[in-house]
Amino acid sequence: MKVLVVGSGGREHALCWAIAKSPMCDALYCAPGNAGAAAVAECVDVDAEDVTGIVRFAKKTEIDFVVVGPEAPLVAGLADKLNAVGIKVFGVSASAAELEGSKTFMKDLCAKYGIPTSDYETFDEPDAAKEYILRHQGRVVVKADGLAAGKGVIVCHNQNEGFAAIDHIMTERAFGESGDLVVIEEFLAGEEASFFALVDGERALPLVAAQDHKAVCDGDKGPNTGGMGAYTPAPVVDEAMQQRVMDEIIAPLINGMAQEGRPYKGVLFAGLMIDEAGPKLLEINVRFGDPECQPLMMRLESDLLEALLACAEGRLDEIKLQWKKNTALVVVMATEGYPGHYKKGSEIKNLDAAAAIEGVEVFHAGTKAGSNGTVLANGGRVLGITAAGKTVAEARKKAYEAVDAVDWPEGFCRRDIGWRAIERG
Ligand code: AMP
Ligand code: GLY
Repeated sequence: MKVLVVGSGGREHALCWAIAKSPMCDALYCAPGNAGAAAVAECVDVDAEDVTGIVRFAKKTEIDFVVVGPEAPLVAGLADKLNAVGIKVFGVSASAAELEGSKTFMKDLCAKYGIPTSDYETFDEPDAAKEYILRHQGRVVVKADGLAAGKGVIVCHNQNEGFAAIDHIMTERAFGESGDLVVIEEFLAGEEASFFALVDGERALPLVAAQDHKAVCDGDKGPNTGGMGAYTPAPVVDEAMQQRVMDEIIAPLINGMAQEGRPYKGVLFAGLMIDEAGPKLLEINVRFGDPECQPLMMRLESDLLEALLACAEGRLDEIKLQWKKNTALVVVMATEGYPGHYKKGSEIKNLDAAAAIEGVEVFHAGTKAGSNGTVLANGGRVLGITAAGKTVAEARKKAYEAVDAVDWPEGFCRRDIGWRAIERG
């Protein structure tokens, strides 16, 4: 079959890499892709958010199956539009994507269907939001309601930071209309995990869990990013915890969405906070995590394309996934300045030496091909150096060996990816 992957990140390179291995895949395209995805897929110059352009290309090229990577085209209705012209798609409808597109919608759904999450209130004007903060003693988290590329969440240490966050989102409108509403919620302590499941409208098939590193600096310091590194499995999600998450969060969520007339079909990514009392839902994403997807794909033994197609066709009962019993870890290399202002166009050398290390895959994110076979940085997060190993420590050692082989003075990475798992021993 002819497959099109939509997106340009490390996640999409990893999805292409896994799909290309499937015997069911006869031709693979990626829109718009990056310099790494180009090694396994034909990159097409259509932006992931150009819904009309993607549909036009898919029709013209007679694509059989579209796999959508990022959330923005899903929120904009790409899956609905492809379905409407008879093209199969892995990705949720716009009405289901609201789980990620509106934090208010997600929190209200949790309240209605008894899904454990932090206490919250929603506000549409700053004075009332500030009063809420005055009334609350404990720490709060202020969130822009809409999409903000992972940057619309401000964890506040005191009331002044809370006021500043409200001003930033609602008055300065740092995230535009995504900040028309804010959700203010109770701060939760515990250990975070990224939990993934394929959902076919009715059934859910858990994938493996991962842990992300959102802050830009070592020791989880500095502003939040899209994710600076990740590994799987997540030791905090053992078999018993996986079952609790499935029973207490995923099942009521799928059931709630079906009852609301918004059946969920696609990958469900639950951001969890776990403490002694159990798991609580921090957020829902309607897509694979980036960079979590990269180590997930390294550990997947089964045919990804077969599983995604069965999910899209409501046949998940036919799928049993096999995972390697090892660990995989990704270190993200970003352009100096990220998540703030950064320059594009610096040359990255020696990628072949990094990729030649046994058990290492170099997934590209913001890269583009320069002249004469050069690779140029073209974004904030640029590379996902991913390694497999028997333990987190072994995978991490290999990943950093590969990072050190890359010659890119304008890049940087965190040096402590995996610390939590390694500290656990
Ligand atoms: P979100 O995009 O909603 O997952 O938030 C981004 C990050 O902010 C999460 O990964 C957490 O590290 C942190 N966060 C969000 N909500 C809370 C909360 N209620 N308590 C503590 N930390 C939170
Ligand atoms: N790495 C977290 C995310 O994809 O949202």
